[in-house]
Amino acid sequence: MGKYVIAGNWKMNKPPAEAKALSEDIKPLGAGAACDVVLGVPFVDLQTALDATAGTKIGVAAQNCHWAASGAFTGEISAPMLKAMGVGYVIIGHSERRQYFGETDETVNKRVRAALDNGLTVILCVGEYLEQREQGITEEVVALQTKVALCGVSAEEMSRVIIAYEPVWAIGTGRTATAAQANEVCAAIRNVVKGLYNADVATALTVQYGGSMNAGNAAELLAQSDVDGGLIGGASLKAPDFATIVAAAK
Ligand code: PGA
Repeated sequence: MGKYVIAGNWKMNKPPAEAKALSEDIKPLGAGAACDVVLGVPFVDLQTALDATAGTKIGVAAQNCHWAASGAFTGEISAPMLKAMGVGYVIIGHSERRQYFGETDETVNKRVRAALDNGLTVILCVGEYLEQREQGITEEVVALQTKVALCGVSAEEMSRVIIAYEPVWAIGTGRTATAAQANEVCAAIRNVVKGLYNADVATALTVQYGGSMNAGNAAELLAQSDVDGGLIGGASLKAPDFATIVAAAK
């Protein structure tokens, strides 16, 4: 459906020296990859990752941005700051931000708006908790998250939005969604986007799966009709594993 994008989410790992080494190990992937490759790194590693991947097709993502351009928001980083550094992407609404840092659908929407206003490409994360899956409300939950996050986003701007479906119960647990489960929800998200915009926007949308995707299961997940890539946590910290996942995205 959409263009394949494999993005690493390093989370709060890799101080600059290690980030430099890992970025350099991943750098050769930029040349031959059939998909887009993005490294989502901690703020302190952004410059390192940008320098290490300069001149390649590999993109660099921040893991959050604030909705204001500047001001009294201690500890936050703004979208214009990221843009000024040359960062191209930002991950927004990751379940760890929602779970541990009070992120809501409304603040996710404000951050999405700020990122798009500043020319960044957004990797928007949605996904259900285990209880919600067991209650049979997975599609309602991700539809709600998607709709609120995309409030005020135009059809044109959707070319700079990637949606990552990340079931919370699969993140960092080693418990991957089955390929069929992943495909079903990715298709449902695409359908929500079709309803909000139109079939062309929905078809062009990149919908990633994330949650314990690894070198062993990536090929099957990525072969699904509605899975256009992956947001990879743990396995993105090992260059050979990440390379295997990138090679599977074609
Ligand atoms: P995981 O993390 O691959 O370690 O499960 C995915 C994510 O949180 O983006």
